[in-house]
Amino acid sequence: MHKLDVEYARSQFPALKTGFIYGDNAGYSRGSQTVLNVADRIYEYLLNTNAQLGADYSVSAESTRRVMEEAPEVARKLFNAESPDEIVFGASSTINLENLARGMDNDIQAGDEFILTGEHEANAGPWKRLAIRRGAIVKYWTPTPSNPNNPYSVTYKVEELLPLITSKTRILAFAACSNILGTILPIKEIVQAARTAAKEKGAKKLEISVDCVAYAPHRQIDVRDWDVNFCVFSLYKVYGPHISVLYVRMSSLLESVTAITHHFLKVHEKSYKLQPGGPGYELVYGITGVLPYLLSLTPEHNLQASFDAIAAHEQTLVEPVLAFLTSPKQIERGVRIVGEEKAGLTRVPTISFVVVGEKATKSSDIVKVFDKKGGIGIRFGHFYAYSLIDRLEPKIDVDDGVVRISLVHYNTAEEVERVIGVLKEALE
Ligand SMILES: Cc1ncc(COP(=O)(O)O)c(C=O)c1O
Repeated sequence: MHKLDVEYARSQFPALKTGFIYGDNAGYSRGSQTVLNVADRIYEYLLNTNAQLGADYSVSAESTRRVMEEAPEVARKLFNAESPDEIVFGASSTINLENLARGMDNDIQAGDEFILTGEHEANAGPWKRLAIRRGAIVKYWTPTPSNPNNPYSVTYKVEELLPLITSKTRILAFAACSNILGTILPIKEIVQAARTAAKEKGAKKLEISVDCVAYAPHRQIDVRDWDVNFCVFSLYKVYGPHISVLYVRMSSLLESVTAITHHFLKVHEKSYKLQPGGPGYELVYGITGVLPYLLSLTPEHNLQASFDAIAAHEQTLVEPVLAFLTSPKQIERGVRIVGEEKAGLTRVPTISFVVVGEKATKSSDIVKVFDKKGGIGIRFGHFYAYSLIDRLEPKIDVDDGVVRISLVHYNTAEEVERVIGVLKEALE
């Protein structure tokens, strides 16, 4: 396996030249920094091919090729989908999933059951609203602690999911990786176990929706290998522009989804039946800059090799932070990791914690120390995983939430040292 050339990676992000430490890469509405190649393509699109799609004149033809062919093909590769016709573009993953759920209104019956993780609201809220509209029943798959000494060391376990499945189970929606817990779930294993249980119980149609927003910056997606129906992620967290891509398996697109577009548009077999109004074309084209960047990270020039190198480097970031926060001194201080406490390949460098006990400290007060110091951007809160944080026991103030440090492959060991230095001060 090739080691990640972090200096090379950083050189592709002009924003990193200031030396500011971006430690909020999983942030909502703005995530990772944008790779130069993406910014160049957006600029170039606007200056040279900014024309309405579908006309016969030459500039329109090139614009159409970029937006309707080149970009969906890049998204297809990022999902490992079968066809670019399975790709939907939307302003955000939240709106993409809301549109999907609205498109499924006609295919949901009263009494159907949805199993949700109640994780990030983007892959929960749209299903909850669909359940209300159609009289479906919502059940929650909740995470449980892995360490008896830390009630917040929670992860989702397959054995907690399976008893929830019945002959009525229609939808299973979960996140491949939590934007709070930072654990990558065994997606293929979960899907296989859920499909087998659903079949045994006599469920007629189970469709599975996987939120990959907090997963996609760190690992490769493979919707075909995973055998999922729906998958979504936001390019603005994967070094690209502020746009989201949704994968909808062709059979689901044809059989489960009704168009939510204007009645006169002929879209039955097209993924844009879920795209009411056009997405920003320059942003759609902008995503084509992400793939060459990812491929350029290793000489193999394939996504698996690049993500292997990313995963290996990211371990060197997550290990020291977890080692510091779980040291006997910090445990004594009241620090509790929210999520898996051990580093490892199923752990991404999204690290959340709270400080409880006699010397309990508000998450906002920890972040204030960082803000005062300057030069490092991290945040506190529930990060829209409101239900997950709200259900933790013993209770924590959901609005104060957790302190979250979310790193990605362009962060360095030196940056991690600086982050730990400020953490030491904040926890004094
Ligand atoms: C796990 C997860 N899912 C979904 C979202 C929502 O993505 P978007 O901002 O594109 O709607 C986020 C954003 O933070 C997230 O972290």
